[in-house]
Amino acid sequence: MNCIRVNTGTSYDVLIRHGILRDAGKEIMKVMPNARLAVVTDSNVSPLYLRRLLDSLEQAGYNNIPSFTMAAGEDTKSLKSAGLLYQLLSQAKISRDCCLIALGGGVVGDLTGFVASTYLRGIPYIQIPTTLLAQVDSSVGGKTAVNLPSGKNLVGTFWQPSLVLCDPDTLSTLPEDVFADGIAEAIKCGMIKDSGLFDLLAHHDPHSNLEEIISRCVSIKRDIVEKDEHDTGERMLLNFGHTLGHAVENWMQYQRRHGQCVAVGMVMIVRAQVAAGLLSAAVLERLLQVCQKHGLPISSPARWEDLFEICRQDKKNTAKDIRVILLRDIGDSYIQKFSFQEFETFIRGGDNK
Ligand code: NAD
Ligand code: GLY
Repeated sequence: MNCIRVNTGTSYDVLIRHGILRDAGKEIMKVMPNARLAVVTDSNVSPLYLRRLLDSLEQAGYNNIPSFTMAAGEDTKSLKSAGLLYQLLSQAKISRDCCLIALGGGVVGDLTGFVASTYLRGIPYIQIPTTLLAQVDSSVGGKTAVNLPSGKNLVGTFWQPSLVLCDPDTLSTLPEDVFADGIAEAIKCGMIKDSGLFDLLAHHDPHSNLEEIISRCVSIKRDIVEKDEHDTGERMLLNFGHTLGHAVENWMQYQRRHGQCVAVGMVMIVRAQVAAGLLSAAVLERLLQVCQKHGLPISSPARWEDLFEICRQDKKNTAKDIRVILLRDIGDSYIQKFSFQEFETFIRGGDNK
């Protein structure tokens, strides 16, 4: 088993092991021996894994555990769902000595974290992520959020979980495109900090190396988040490929998955860097190959002009400048400030569509 300690404002372990869901009760008892528990999950995950989790919790001695199953999908990350959940928690008499468990992907994790951080001015929560994206990224680091009609993740908090349990066995039921979404974020981790992880993803079957991939990604995220919990500096490195990726996602009206758009965003940035003479063409070639190997797209469905307009209007980019993550090489990244004009010229140089 891999145990990665995250020392942020509050500290917690991320435990990564095949089959750990069956031991969830034992592990949770070590950190929350006296808490009453309540589980939040979604309509896809509930029939697959809720019973297994509840059995494990009951075997460990917890009882009277309410569970709340939200509709699966991004629409559930809303203030309306948060409101519904507050009401359900209140009806179930969930008090300050209770702990929520998020069993699901990033949607369930972000929503549960947001509700935990605000209900009764904040109660603890535990993440049991069941998508690869949530295991390598969203369950660690304490960013919680819901979406507004005007944009994604516009209301949120920093609220660290008390424990994260990653069971790679739960990934066996993921649809292929959802699995590939997590691979895109793992490629991103390799690109920004770990050339060995990149090589692993380039040359080996991820299904046979899940514990290692998840552990390496979580370690990278841990190192960054410990230095910059509140996202004012180095944490921005985790946004490699995301500025343009978010623009593609927005242009596609969220009909293409996040990781697929991040893959396109990474390719566009690397193309531009190669054209500007800042990076060797071999890096672009290796990125294209790894994306194609994992069924991730490599070209933008939208014209650059349209994406640029979306970047300019993005509520998170209201300043005159935009910070973009660039590479010195695979595994070595830095933050570069551009004016919008400079950024446009830079991306156009890459002959990006
Ligand atoms: P998701 O939670 O919507 O899960 C994707 C789909 O897979 C859903 O239909 C879900 O029901 C289903 N599913 C989940 N686990 C399954 C399993 N084991 N077997 C079968 N089906 C399963 O999406 P996601 O990709 O996990 O997360 C995306 C969300 O994460 C976005 O809202 C994004 O903004 C957020 N996010 C947050 C952070 C953060 O730091 N907080 C980081 C990255 C992404
Ligand atoms: N997913 C980016 C972050 O947690 O900062």
